[in-house]
Amino acid sequence: MQSDRRPIGVFDSGLGGLTVLRAVRERMPDESLIYFGDTARVPYGSKSAETVTRFSREIVEFLLGHEVKAVVAACNSASALAVPLLKAEYTVPIMGVIGPGARLAVERTRSGRIGVIGTRATIASGAYERAMAVLDPAATVVTQPCPLFVSLVEEGWTDRPAARLIAEEYLAPLRGRVDTLVLGCTHYPLLKPLIAELMGPDVVLIDSAESCAAELGVLLNAHGLRAPERTAATERFYVSDAPELFSRLSTRFLGRDVGDVRHVPEVAELKG
Ligand code: DGL
Repeated sequence: MQSDRRPIGVFDSGLGGLTVLRAVRERMPDESLIYFGDTARVPYGSKSAETVTRFSREIVEFLLGHEVKAVVAACNSASALAVPLLKAEYTVPIMGVIGPGARLAVERTRSGRIGVIGTRATIASGAYERAMAVLDPAATVVTQPCPLFVSLVEEGWTDRPAARLIAEEYLAPLRGRVDTLVLGCTHYPLLKPLIAELMGPDVVLIDSAESCAAELGVLLNAHGLRAPERTAATERFYVSDAPELFSRLSTRFLGRDVGDVRHVPEVAELKG
């Protein structure tokens, strides 16, 4: 079988994409990974499609400068607003988290009633509804932006009373109406226990980080791009703002220390 030792590029607006990197690492221990967190320009979830596409394109150029063999947009907002365009622009395989999450949700729903939560930009884009309509035209999709969840997770307030109050409010329109719920934002897997408790045991939660990692494996195999087994895999982390805060908060998302984080102040100009 063909193999390829080049790294996979993973990018996000900031820290949250580490949930995707973690899922990729768990499934593919032999793959080298380069992560870019656009911490100087986070959040993407409240920005326009034009802006998020421009930022994402600059990051793809940066990653290509590091000779990545594939690019994963871990950020749901970038996946919703920029990935379809970027896929058409580049020959390197680029994948986002929307397709994998939508596919798994359609596969797992029993009633055809699916909920999606995400940032304002992701929800307003209609990307999940469009993807699910193609997969199952009969599916009913109920969406709900939950912008405050990102701040709660970054504060580490995932099990505070404030988190419960806010989650109750956001999830009320979905409770009893869906049997499957897509966690359509990088940060939401950290709120999984609370969301699961509030939605009840009959609702299946779709973690877009896990579904994305699973499909990435399929994509790499299809292109003959998997690293050979027992490769000494490397990881490199880059951010566009000061690395200290990223390093400090990263353990929460990754479950371990990221080690050395490099600062790339001008991603638009520095391509490699
Ligand atoms: N990474 C973003 C997402 O998954 C959340 C944070 C942001 O708004 O940039 O949509």
